[in-house]
Amino acid sequence: MTVALPPDAERDVRSRTVAAPASLDVALLGCGTVGSAFAGLAQLEPPDRAVRITHALVRDHGRDRPTLLPDVRRIYDGRSIFATSPDVVVELLGGIEPARTLVLEALHRGIPVVTANKSLLAAHGGELREAATRTATPLLYEAAVIAGVPFLGTFSRRPFAARVTGFTGIVNGTSNYVLTRARNERIGIAPALADAQRLGLAEPNPADDIDGIDAAEKLIVLLQQFAAVNVAPADVETDGIGRITAADIDDARALGGTIKPVIAADWSERLRAFAGPAFLGRRHLLASVDSAENALILEGPRGRMVFRGPGAGPDVTAATVLDDVHEAARATIPVTLPSLRRAQPSAPETPWFIRVTAPRLPRRIEIADLLASHGVYLQRTQRGSAGHAEGCAALTLPCSRPRIERALRALGAAARCDVRLLRALEDGA
Ligand SMILES: NC(=O)c1ccc[n+]([C@@H]2O[C@H](COP(=O)([O-])OP(=O)(O)OC[C@H]3O[C@@H](n4cnc5c(N)ncnc54)[C@H](OP(=O)(O)O)[C@@H]3O)[C@@H](O)[C@H]2O)c1
Repeated sequence: MTVALPPDAERDVRSRTVAAPASLDVALLGCGTVGSAFAGLAQLEPPDRAVRITHALVRDHGRDRPTLLPDVRRIYDGRSIFATSPDVVVELLGGIEPARTLVLEALHRGIPVVTANKSLLAAHGGELREAATRTATPLLYEAAVIAGVPFLGTFSRRPFAARVTGFTGIVNGTSNYVLTRARNERIGIAPALADAQRLGLAEPNPADDIDGIDAAEKLIVLLQQFAAVNVAPADVETDGIGRITAADIDDARALGGTIKPVIAADWSERLRAFAGPAFLGRRHLLASVDSAENALILEGPRGRMVFRGPGAGPDVTAATVLDDVHEAARATIPVTLPSLRRAQPSAPETPWFIRVTAPRLPRRIEIADLLASHGVYLQRTQRGSAGHAEGCAALTLPCSRPRIERALRALGAAARCDVRLLRALEDGA
């Protein structure tokens, strides 16, 4: 979209020295789970931090919205917010359109934007950052990744601290909750997910969470922030937890670990990244991050930095958005976001967790020899039985995905066995 710059947007605000107004007028785009919580929380602000929601963009005319005060204008066409001039636009619509068009329009007009929308940032972060930088307008998105643990804003203000070269994290609370329940209660993913939905911890349509899409989008937002690269969602190796079985979880336990929904990226040399379930040894820092909790480990020249806490939920997300609103209106905020370089990550070489089952399995040494002939070396194995079949679970030394897949295809053909495969992460963290 091309939006003509209104004359006043060209004003020199590079040093953005406007004083924060005593009361902030906020145009709220989206009043669903988070937007409603935001509207409720905003009413509790003390008079010296007053936030007044002037407009609320929604879709459903008939829906009751108890946290919206009667004087808030319900609107169904987002462009009408520009008839007045809000101090901050808060985007809580989710998805790409109309969020992208409205956020860009606000930035072009020099109106600060706060968003929690990782899908929008992952798909159009470069364009939005460019618009924010060009008009020297704050674009804050603290709630887009681990909403309950604010850390992105700190790193935006601290470029030396932000010089990290990689991260590993658990950033999707729904998947983590489901895997934790499945492990603790020895049940399958489907019943654990049904329970999560009943408790309101998973959406009625949980595909984005369960398929790893939400986690991959957050990985991309983190890469924008810390590696200054723009990565297309389709270029990130992304896997979900839907195919994990109770037997996978049991065998992971027998091998001294657990399966977690992780994201990982490293750009100390070439950019490598993936999002998906992975075996973690018991000593891994992320292994004890259970239920809906999130965590992020940043690796860099100053060592390891760890952030851990609530990932999402309407109340914590609304609180983080509200903090961003005040921050966006504050005078000293840095408004230049580093521009992004387009990059295509490759999948990393990691250890692998494999499970092999067959009515009659070859001896362990034969499996190890066959895999070794394809350049895959076992570091730990665990033999057992799965129903009527014999089973063997193992951890390999690090190798590439094509190499392990080639080796397992050969094993499957030679021993007529079923093979399952998950990434594993070193205990190093
Ligand atoms: N839920 C969380 O815990 C959480 C945590 C962190 C970040 N986030 C992010 O926060 C954002 C909002 O999430 P949510 O859970 O609050 O979503 P939600 O419950 O689905 O709410 C979306 C709101 O936007 C409105 N809306 C959507 N499309 C619209 C359109 N085309 N025109 C007008 N209104 C439209 C909906 O209107 P109706 O009410 O009329 O349907 C609803 O009020 C998302 O980007 C999400 O990723 C959520």
